[in-house]
Amino acid sequence: MKILVTGTSGFLAARVRDYLLEDGGLEVLSPSHAELDVTSSDSCKVYFETHHPDAVIHLAAISDIGECARNEELSRDVNTGGPIRLASCAKEYGMTGRFLFASSDQVYTGTHELRLNRETDSLAPENLYAREKLAAEEGVAAILPSACALRLDWMFDLKPGKSNFLKNIIRSIRGQNPVRCAVNELRAETYAREVAVNMKALLFSDAPGGAYNFGGPAYGNSYETALSAYELVGEALGLPVAGLVLPAEYDTPCSLAMDQEKINSVGIRFRDTVASAAFCLEREAEYLIEIR
Ligand SMILES: NC(=O)c1ccc[n+]([C@@H]2O[C@H](COP(=O)([O-])OP(=O)(O)OC[C@H]3O[C@@H](n4cnc5c(N)ncnc54)[C@H](OP(=O)(O)O)[C@@H]3O)[C@@H](O)[C@H]2O)c1
Repeated sequence: MKILVTGTSGFLAARVRDYLLEDGGLEVLSPSHAELDVTSSDSCKVYFETHHPDAVIHLAAISDIGECARNEELSRDVNTGGPIRLASCAKEYGMTGRFLFASSDQVYTGTHELRLNRETDSLAPENLYAREKLAAEEGVAAILPSACALRLDWMFDLKPGKSNFLKNIIRSIRGQNPVRCAVNELRAETYAREVAVNMKALLFSDAPGGAYNFGGPAYGNSYETALSAYELVGEALGLPVAGLVLPAEYDTPCSLAMDQEKINSVGIRFRDTVASAAFCLEREAEYLIEIR
């Protein structure tokens, strides 16, 4: 089976590609941006005609919210147009396997109550990136109803690369720099490996198409999550954490936290943020020393 994974010079797709290759038995196509430019229909078609993927995990995107706001036209072309072009190719070339692509928990930015967001909720996202992701979900569903849009939360691991939830905690503890975390915010963060493992499970499942909340359950509000995560990381580093997490309150409550019922119903489970961080620290302890 040949699986096309896009965006492998980026954070998540590199982890997903490596995980798919771990057990052998799968062929992973991982073209560079230059080999497959998702803003070009011709590039997508030529790639499909030449390589005939059996399934797609589309993760290439402009993933930085600020960059999207600064480059509106390009980001729409990549983040909304890209998934739609690839889904059209998958349909045109009669691809038999699944089409999975990255959406985001940012689609829930319009939620100003402390509750869990469900896939069926009506949405009013508050930033351009999230609106592009939502438009991609709708556009792809119209072309390929079996496709799954994965609403991912903020992911982390300890490998070299961009900063993330866990690396920020490590740096804050090492520098003994306090942080303020909101008591009226609900959200979760998930270890990227868990996401990769669960993507493979979904790829080979007969789960119905549509949008899936694809990240861990919230551990508590952001202040409670940080308190527990700091304890955990402090222990791993052998450093004190007392007084480093301070409570804050936003003017308006907000929740990106995702309900788990739909994803659990297809046999897929995620750890909560703190358990996910513990799992990551256990597997990737070798990288701790490098994070300063
Ligand atoms: N990271 C997170 O915590 C997070 C959270 C929620 C959702 N997501 C979503 O998950 C996916 C993966 O995120 P990530 O953090 O791994 O992204 P990333 O590190 O920014 O990587 C993005 C990748 O997309 C490629 N790309 C950009 N424009 C392209 C184009 N026109 N054609 C082909 N490739 C192109 C980039 O290649 P070049 O660098 O060579 O241009 C890079 O390989 C994205 O859809 C993102 O929106 C991520």
